[in-house]
Amino acid sequence: MKVVLFGGTGFIGRNLVRHLINRYGADLQLTVVTRRKGAVGEIHPVARPFVWDASQQSPPVKVLNGCDVVINLAGEIVAQRWTRKVKELIRDSRVLTTRNIVESIGQASVKPRVLVNASATGYYGSRGDEELSEASGPGDDFLSRVCVGWEEEALRAREMGVRVVLARFGLVLGYDGGAMERILPFFEWGIGGILGNGRQWWSWIHIRDTVGAITHCIEDERISGAVNIVGPQPVRNRTFTKVLASVVGKPALFPVPAFALRLLYGEMSTILLSSQKVIPSVLKDTGFSYQHPDLSEALAHIRYWRRQWEQGKPLEDSISKGLPIMAQD
Ligand SMILES: NC(=O)c1ccc[n+]([C@@H]2O[C@H](COP(=O)([O-])OP(=O)(O)OC[C@H]3O[C@@H](n4cnc5c(N)ncnc54)[C@H](OP(=O)(O)O)[C@@H]3O)[C@@H](O)[C@H]2O)c1
Repeated sequence: MKVVLFGGTGFIGRNLVRHLINRYGADLQLTVVTRRKGAVGEIHPVARPFVWDASQQSPPVKVLNGCDVVINLAGEIVAQRWTRKVKELIRDSRVLTTRNIVESIGQASVKPRVLVNASATGYYGSRGDEELSEASGPGDDFLSRVCVGWEEEALRAREMGVRVVLARFGLVLGYDGGAMERILPFFEWGIGGILGNGRQWWSWIHIRDTVGAITHCIEDERISGAVNIVGPQPVRNRTFTKVLASVVGKPALFPVPAFALRLLYGEMSTILLSSQKVIPSVLKDTGFSYQHPDLSEALAHIRYWRRQWEQGKPLEDSISKGLPIMAQD
């Protein structure tokens, strides 16, 4: 199976690369497209790196021609202060990269079977206690608008006969990056606490289930359109806080009021304060089975493996002895 992965050096991408190698073994031919020459050394030796900035220019057709699967996870990091310039980057790095990839797909004589394009549950905006399925409409804040534009670009590949999956990721929890990298230290130091009034819903998913859900979407040809990549049990922020504090064995006595978050992070604080109770209807209806549906177990598992990782020990899904190393371009 030939896979081309954009944004494969990031948190989800690195985990996905290991998962793809484990799952498909020697049948996998994987190209990871990165903007940074310096990232080539970080890419798993089984993958073939290709240096290209798809946010600036369509990737060469030869990279995509004849591949089975294109996965696009590229995008400027969202968890930073949203100045005007950063907002432009957040939007353009997603919308333009997707547009450029789809343009190359259009020119390929042998097109991929499926394009899995990242999106986010930020699509829905902040919706209180409303249950949100893939059929729910978008919100109207900055991130919702970014997601709408991002998804529109990906959906253009449908007109070319390509199955398109819009992977609306929730809060992805893992050992080697993502939100836990920022949240966990505060709890380990005993200075964690609820954010705002703590009533906002967080739709979380373990990284192993995230990459499992991506391959589920690749393999199940019935799946097309939006897919909520979230776990089966969203929780309120106050429950998340309580469970994480008990996993870490420290009190969480330091609530951070909404105004302080706004002062600290500006408009970006909406990602911490907005409420999205997202239901994974498509994953459920197509029989996806979760390995870590329970928050307490998932957080304990992540904490254990984060410690291993910090000590330089290999992660549980690091593998690949005896697999061929692809020739470089
Ligand atoms: N992690 C989550 O909880 C979560 C939740 C919802 C949605 N998502 C979405 O899922 C995707 C993957 O998430 P992630 O956590 O793996 O992200 P990440 O760790 O920030 O990685 C994203 C990748 O995108 C590329 N990139 C970064 N800035 C870019 C820019 N300005 N222009 C073009 N490419 C750029 C980078 O690859 P190179 O430097 O190698 O080019 C980077 O490795 C993102 O689009 C993110 O918005 C993630």
